[in-house]
Order: sequence, then C-alpha cells, then structure tokens
Amino acid sequence: MLRSLPWLLAVVGFAAFSSSSHVHPRHTPYAALKTGKRADVPIPDPASRVNLFIGTTSSGHAFPGVTLPHGMVKVGMDTDSGDNHAGYDANPNFSATGFSQLHDDGTGGSVPLSVFKVWPFANCGSGDNDRFEVCPCDINSRKVKRALLANGSPDDAAEPGYFASNLSTGIRVELTATKRTALHRYTFPANSTTPRLVVDVTNDGQQSNSLRVVHIDPDTSRVTAGSTYAASFGPGQYRVYTCMDFKGVGFDLGKPKEFGTYLGNSPIRGFTDGLQEYINYRGEMGALLGFNQDGSGTTTIMVRAGMSYISSDQACRNAEEEIPDFDFEGVRAATRATWNELLGRIQVGTENVDDDTIELFYSSLYRTHISPADYSGENPLWNSTEPYYDSFYCNWDTFRTLYPLMSLHDPENFARIVRGMINIQQHEGWLPECRGATAQQWIQGGSNGDPILGEFFVKYAAHAKELGVDPDALYKALLADAEDQPVDWNLQGRQVNIWKSLGYVPQDLIEPGGANTKQVSRTLEYAFNDFAVAQVAKLLNNSADAEKYATRAGNFVNMWNPDTVSPDNDTIVGMMQPRFQNGTFGFTDPRHCSVHDPTGANCFLFNTNPDGFYEASPIVYSQFAPQDTAKLVELQGGAEKFIARLDYIFDNNYFDSTDEPSQQIPYMYHYANAPGRSTQRSRQVISEFYSTAINGLPGNDDSGAMGSYVAFYLAGLYPVPATRQYLLSSPYFPSISFFNPVFNTTTTIVATNFAGNPANGTGGTVFVQNVTIDGQPAPSNCFLEWDVFEKGGTVELTLTDDINVTCGGNGTDALPPSLSTGGFGLLPSSNSNSSSNATQA
Ligand SMILES: *[C@@H]1O[C@H](CO)[C@@H](O)[C@H](O)[C@H]1NC(C)=O
Ligand SMILES: *[C@@H]1O[C@H](CO)[C@@H](O)[C@H](O)[C@H]1NC(C)=O
Ligand SMILES: *[C@@H]1O[C@H](CO)[C@@H](O)[C@H](O)[C@H]1NC(C)=O
Ligand SMILES: *[C@@H]1O[C@H](CO)[C@@H](O)[C@H](O)[C@H]1NC(C)=O
Ligand SMILES: *[C@@H]1O[C@H](CO)[C@@H](O)[C@H](O)[C@H]1NC(C)=O
Ligand SMILES: *[C@@H]1O[C@H](CO)[C@@H](O)[C@H](O)[C@H]1NC(C)=O
Ligand SMILES: *[C@@H]1O[C@H](CO)[C@@H](O)[C@H](O)[C@H]1NC(C)=O
Ligand SMILES: *[C@@H]1O[C@H](CO)[C@@H](O)[C@H](O)[C@H]1NC(C)=O
Ligand SMILES: *[C@@H]1O[C@H](CO)[C@@H](O)[C@H](O)[C@H]1NC(C)=O
Ligand SMILES: *[C@@H]1O[C@H](CO)[C@@H](O)[C@H](O)[C@H]1NC(C)=O
Ligand SMILES: *[C@@H]1O[C@H](CO)[C@@H](O)[C@H](O)[C@H]1NC(C)=O
Ligand SMILES: *[C@@H]1O[C@H](CO)[C@@H](O)[C@H](O)[C@H]1NC(C)=O
Repeated sequence: MLRSLPWLLAVVGFAAFSSSSHVHPRHTPYAALKTGKRADVPIPDPASRVNLFIGTTSSGHAFPGVTLPHGMVKVGMDTDSGDNHAGYDANPNFSATGFSQLHDDGTGGSVPLSVFKVWPFANCGSGDNDRFEVCPCDINSRKVKRALLANGSPDDAAEPGYFASNLSTGIRVELTATKRTALHRYTFPANSTTPRLVVDVTNDGQQSNSLRVVHIDPDTSRVTAGSTYAASFGPGQYRVYTCMDFKGVGFDLGKPKEFGTYLGNSPIRGFTDGLQEYINYRGEMGALLGFNQDGSGTTTIMVRAGMSYISSDQACRNAEEEIPDFDFEGVRAATRATWNELLGRIQVGTENVDDDTIELFYSSLYRTHISPADYSGENPLWNSTEPYYDSFYCNWDTFRTLYPLMSLHDPENFARIVRGMINIQQHEGWLPECRGATAQQWIQGGSNGDPILGEFFVKYAAHAKELGVDPDALYKALLADAEDQPVDWNLQGRQVNIWKSLGYVPQDLIEPGGANTKQVSRTLEYAFNDFAVAQVAKLLNNSADAEKYATRAGNFVNMWNPDTVSPDNDTIVGMMQPRFQNGTFGFTDPRHCSVHDPTGANCFLFNTNPDGFYEASPIVYSQFAPQDTAKLVELQGGAEKFIARLDYIFDNNYFDSTDEPSQQIPYMYHYANAPGRSTQRSRQVISEFYSTAINGLPGNDDSGAMGSYVAFYLAGLYPVPATRQYLLSSPYFPSISFFNPVFNTTTTIVATNFAGNPANGTGGTVFVQNVTIDGQPAPSNCFLEWDVFEKGGTVELTLTDDINVTCGGNGTDALPPSLSTGGFGLLPSSNSNSSSNATQA
C-alpha cells in the first residue's frame, strides 16, 4: 500500500561478521533430530542476518541505530524527514541533522525523544573564514545530506551494536552503546583544521524544550546538560540529562582549542554556561567546541554520552561506569555478543530457504527487543529496588504477539518487565498502558497490561517467585484495572464502572476523565482484559473470581447486533455495533475506518470518532474475541459462513496489514477446522506486505509489535495471549527451535516434506497434515500446548500440498480452545501425548 518507488526495492543492508560471536552452549545439536536429512548447522552469528534498515522509510519508523536488548540508550542518526519518529530515514533526499542518544522504535504520535544531538563540523567557512563565530549551529543551518553509494542509497551501515554513516562533508560517523551510555566516533577529513562538535540542547524530536541548562568545563571539555521536553503521545513532560566527554583517538586531545555556548547561529566564544544568560531566549541553544587537529591527516574524536533521567551527575557516573576506557571496538563487540546470545536462542534450518526469509525472520525478532526499555535506577518519580521499565508504546500494540514471543525464549527479561509494571501499579494505582519517557500517555482501548501480566503468569506461574514476581501483587495489579475506575481513564485503567454495571460501554454516556469514544472497540478489549484476569484467578485457585471474570469476558457478545448487514454484501449478516444505555443498538457503517469508508474516516485517536471504533472497521472488530472465537463462529452462522466471511474480508480488502486489530484474522480459519486456509492466508499476507526492503513494513513497527507478528508467521505459530495454546501452521524453515533459559529446554519443530516457500504465498507443500510430539500422535494439528515448550521435545509436522487439511480428530474435539467450548487448559497435561480432553481443566 505504501510501497512505491522502484529504488525502494534496493536493500541497503550491510552486515559484517564479528569474531566475537557467541552461541549459547546449551542448544540441542540438530544432528539429534531424526529427519534423516543433512543436519542443519546452527547459525553462529544471527546478528549477521539482521537487516536494520527494514521499515526505515515510508512510515515504518523502525530504529536502525544502536541499542542493547531493551537498553535505555538508543543512539542513532536524526534526519529532517517527516517520518523521523525513530530519527532515521533511509531516503537519501533527507538530510542528517544530528546524532542523538534516545529513541523509540516504530511509534506514531509526535516524534519522541531524539534528545541531545551531537553534530560535527569539518569546517565552518572556507580559508580564513573558518571561524568559531560563524559556525551555523542551528538545526536547519547545519544539516547536510549523506554521501551516496553508487546505487543512489545513502552511505549508511547498521548492524546490532554498530551504526555508521559518511556525511557529504567528508566526516565519518560511527556509533555504539551500552545500556545508558552512547559512544560516538567522528573521523574528520584532513582539511578540517579545527574539528568542531555541537551539543544541541534544544532540539528533541518536537523542539519542545524548556528549563534547559548547559555547562562546559573549559579544562576537561566535559559538557553537562539537562532539559525538559514534551511527551510524544500524551499531555505530560519529562526531564532528562546528559554528560559528554571527548577523547582523541591516537592523540591527546588536550583542552578544547575554543569553546562557547551558542544562541541560534551565534556561538559566543568563552561562555561556559547557557542558563542565566539566556533565560528568556526562546531560540536554539547548546555548546560548541573546537579541537586541535591530529597532525595533518584525518582526526578522530570520540564522544561518550552518558544519559540519566535523575541528574547530570548520575549521567556522568553512568558513563564512567559503563565505558571507563572509551573502548569503541570492545563496546561494539560486547553489544553484538549480547544480541547474538539472545537471537541465537531461536535457530532455524536453512536448507531450501532463501536468504531474504532468514533475514526477515532475524530482523523481525531483533525489533521485538528494542522496547520496552530498562530504565532501572533512572526513575525520577519514586525510589524502588524493583526494575523500572519505560517505553511501553503501547501495550495496545504489543500485547497481541510481542509478549507471547518473549514467553518462548526470553522469560527473564519478560519477568523483569512484569515486575516493573507491577511496581508502577503500586505507585500510580494502575498498570502502565502507553508510558513513554516516564510520562503516562493516551490509552487506545482497554487496559492491555492485563493480558501481558496474564501471559506471563499463565506460562510462568510455577517459576514466578524464582523470577522475582509476587503472584499476589500481580493479581492485585490486575484487580485494580478490572475494578477501580481512575479519575483520568484516558491515561490509565478503564472506564470500568459502566462496564461492570452494563456489560458494555454505551454510546450515550459522557463521563469526565477520558475520551468518550471507541466504545465498541474498548468493550471488546475490556472483555479480553477480563479474560486474562479470569485465567490468573483460575491458576490461583480463586474459582469465584475465575467465574466472575470469565463471565465478563463473554460480554463481547453485548456488542453483537445480529441484524446489521454489510452494505456491500447482503450475505454478511451480524456485526459488532454501538449500543445505547437503554439497550438499543446505534448504527455505524460496517465499512467505517476501512479503505471503503464512504466518509474517508481513519479513526485515529484524535478524531472526534463518535462511531465507537478505534483504528479498524466494524468488519474487522467483528472478528475480535480471541478468548471465544468459537462463539464468533456460532454468531456468524457456523463454520461455512465463518469461512465465507473471512474470505470476504480478504477479497474486499477489509484486512488491514498496517494495524494490529487485523493481525489474527488470517489464522482464524483454524476455528472453522480449515487450518490450511490460515496457512495460505498468512503466507499471502507476508508475501504481499512484508519484505526486507527499506519500506518492507506496511505500517509503523509499533515498538516491535509488527516485528513479533512477522516472526510468529514465519515460525508457523500464532499466539492466543494469556493462554497455554499456540495456533499451529507450518514454519518457513525445515526446522525451527526455541531455547528457553528458564526451563533449560529446547523445543524443535521439524517440517517433514519441507520443499521451500511459495514466493507469492499461494499453494506449495506447506499445509500441516499430521503432527506428532516426540513420535506420538498429537491431539490436534491446529494448536500446540505450552507443555511442549516447557518440557522441550520435537514436534514433527508432516506437510502436504492439500489445502483441505483439518485439525484432525472428529471435527470438533481437535479445534483450538474457546471459552464457550470448555475453556482453555491451564495446567500441564499429565502426559503430553494424551488427548486434548485431558488438558481442558
Ligand atoms: C529525491 O528527490 C528527487 C528530486 O526531487 C526525486 O526525483 C527523487 O525521486 C527523490 N528520491 C526519493 C527516493 O524520494
Ligand atoms: C565510509 O567511508 C569509509 C572510508 O572512509 C568506508 O570504509 C566505509 O565503508 C564507508 N561507509 C560507512 C557506512 O561507514
Ligand atoms: C575536505 O575534504 C573532504 C574529503 O576529504 C571533501 O569532501 C570536502 O569537500 C573538503 N572540504 C573543503 C572545504 O575543501
Ligand atoms: C530517591 O532517593 C534519593 C537518595 O536518598 C533522594 O535524593 C531522592 O530524592 C529520592 N527520589 C524520590 C523521587 O523520592
Ligand atoms: C434508546 O436511547 C437512544 C439514545 O438516547 C434513543 O435514540 C432511542 O430512542 C432509545 N430507544 C428506546 C427504545 O428508548
Ligand atoms: C458476498 O460474499 C460471499 C462470501 O465471500 C461471496 O461468496 C459472494 O460472492 C459475495 N457476494 C457479492 C454480491 O459480492
Ligand atoms: C541444561 O540442560 C543440559 C542438557 O540439556 C544440561 O547439560 C545442563 O546441565 C542443564 N543446565 C542447567 C543449569 O540445569
Ligand atoms: C502464485 O504462484 C503460483 C506458482 O508460481 C501460481 O500458480 C499462482 O497463480 C500464483 N498466485 C497468485 C495469486 O499470484
Ligand atoms: C500421523 O503420524 C503418526 C506417526 O507417523 C502415525 O502413527 C499416524 O497414523 C499419522 N496420522 C495420520 C492421520 O496420518
Ligand atoms: C479442496 O476442497 C475444494 C472444495 O472445497 C476442492 O475444490 C479442491 O479441489 C480441494 N483440494 C484438494 C487438493 O483436494
Ligand atoms: C467428538 O469427540 C468428542 C470427545 O472426544 C465428543 O464429545 C464429540 O461428541 C464428538 N463429536 C462428533 C461430531 O462426533
Ligand atoms: C476425557 O477425560 C476424562 C477424565 O479424565 C476421561 O475419563 C475420558 O476418557 C477422556 N475422554 C477422551 C475422549 O479422552
């Protein structure tokens, strides 16, 4: 949809091998598998398969700079693109404006973070006019294009742990990072007689600064600064600090040759402070330093930028602790090794798989580990020894697939994030939903921290305490969302009072404290949120609560108007619709917010949106009740009609690849006993909308939500959050294995008859005919129990080219679980080979 210009098809990725690669020692060797084929060699350096430029132009807003997994510092290039939410844009027509220390990945809203940009000048004028006083410091004067490669793309490189760019001024910029500290390396050309660096305190992504301070130490060159900036998706503000030190590479930098603060385009030589002098000045401000050249050749200067949300002193301490010796290559190798260990927990067989598919998989997986970010020790709001995570931007995007992916291979980070969320609830009253840079931001629907906590607990209840998660505190946090309506339900919690009394959010109730919109989509999410509470209650043996919340989880049916007919096809009958307090239904055109909406509405947050739906049409939301898809099948007239409706959604372009509410729709044929159709639809979606190109993401990456979705599709799995079941299809690989460091187990899915992937997603030997687990027939061909990921083992799929495969069993007993057909098994089966009946606790 957004892909267009032919040059965009060029993949500008770059990946170098590093000798520091490191593979987790506990992986099961593939030779152990009994496929009879050549043993696949594990990919020793998955970082080399990551293309960080996917989705870095045309609205993907993907972040290609440097971060540790869930690191606080995310250092990268900023550009003057209108799509610079993560700073960068791969389109060479945009200029570089600076190299800033903090970013998010794939967000919408206003441009977040992008604070304390560093900028290098080779010269500030020619010949005798190359003077400090004439340096064009403000962002629009200083910006320059990047150097270009022969194919017209910018001369930029990125890989886990490293980013580099050659600017058109002949300066080479290289970046790496630890958790809270960035390390920049600038190489100036020989004709740069006074290499100069700007530290820009004014320009965050929104130019929203206030209360800014900057100080230059004339002896050490150290620059400390702080400023307050606006949140990007909410009404709040945040304050952040930096501490920058400079070091020559291969020569003694000495004291700065010249320094001063600048106002707009007027550097003032010798000024050490930017506070008192300019208190009323609204224009741009920062520090400018000029250094001595390193002999007559090129000059390389490093900038170490410590960051803190507490104070500039703490920013200095962070920098000194994390990068004491300015060892650029050491930091780069250590950061890459951390990524390799994490990414390497998922290994894929590569025989008969093209490189692009492998690259798409590891790149997507990488982006699921950018947010949320670990700000532990950097929370300015309260002191706690618990972890503190931020950049939940937003749970509405990530609850569906990102956390269920994390369950498979990264439970330790998952547990820390959950602890951080619980700690926020304990201090602010409700779980975070769309927090960014320490500020609460707008709620898009339900309180979707609930299914995230539910996801963790359903999978790790037995290990919760060992992972530092207190089950009682977790349950209390869920109850706060489920029972207590906050004053500001636009920023946290839910509009829960009316939900409790009516069982839906009516169209005609105007309450203070939130946006009285999105009533239908919020109701559907509230129901799913309560499903997560019910699952946890059940595990805690609180059967009264389990029943109460399971009943509330069934309230999605209150939005179902059986009489609403699709305007463009009168065989499609029954839709989720708005409803008034008196019980009668309102009407919203089922095409509303779709590409066929006659009014052209998009249903984004800031639209008046009186029609009840957020960012997707009634047609799409009519498929949203993951806790009870069987009920949707029933409401929609049975399996055959359900399949016809899914086909109608795709054939008429109601499926929206750019937005999360559509994400599960391709897999919903499973519930009509037609899993082959899910396999084909999901593969068609990948081939039509996703690629390794710089515009290879159809919409925003949304903090890795899209990345996790693609990773699941390529793995041949799709999650139902807060359950022990994963829907099963075929992987894009002859085998895929997941190492779980908490269970110390490896689970391998092997695809027998694997014959490659059809390029357009249609046909092929990709349909799952039969499933065995450790050699025993599995109870269903349509879903896997969490048991197999807990215990480890081999799931063997037999593939066929017949799309008419089924879930197996007698036609009903092997369908994936739903609340109305007996609920979701929550306990390990006593024997993983026993029938699914045994797991319906
Ligand atoms: C860059 O700008 C030129 C001139 O306006 C235009 O022809 C070209 O298509 C643009 N390139 C991209 C990638 O947008
Ligand atoms: C930049 O230029 C240097 C040579 O000065 C070269 O080694 C490097 O590959 C170029 N590109 C990047 C992205 O660093
Ligand atoms: C300095 O040298 C670089 C390449 O080394 C070149 O790109 C740039 O134009 C030169 N600048 C001046 C002012 O001569
Ligand atoms: C946290 O503790 C430090 C050290 O005791 C104190 O200076 C700071 O004010 C405390 N922060 C908050 C938000 O209470
Ligand atoms: C229900 O409420 C709506 C909105 O206030 C109103 O238009 C409608 O007439 C009412 N219906 C009944 C049956 O009272
Ligand atoms: C309506 O949708 C059904 C199911 O996809 C399809 O079979 C039928 O041809 C459609 N009818 C029209 C008039 O488009
Ligand atoms: C993990 O499992 C492997 C065998 O798969 C075993 O050798 C190793 O000791 C286990 N590690 C721990 C910490 O239990
Ligand atoms: C997909 O590719 C197959 C094999 O190349 C071809 O037969 C089929 O028509 C294609 N389908 C579509 C929808 O392009
Ligand atoms: C599935 O595979 C197992 C093991 O090979 C076999 O025993 C079973 O009969 C197969 N079932 C079907 C339906 O093919
Ligand atoms: C699958 O079933 C459809 C009818 O539903 C039929 O047209 C098609 O030929 C079948 N495919 C195979 C491979 O049997
Ligand atoms: C399928 O099997 C289950 C028990 O495994 C049974 O309850 C159900 O009635 C059977 N359905 C059909 C259609 O035979
Ligand atoms: C279902 O479980 C019950 C109780 O464990 C058992 O008696 C029954 O035989 C099982 N049914 C099937 C079809 O496995």
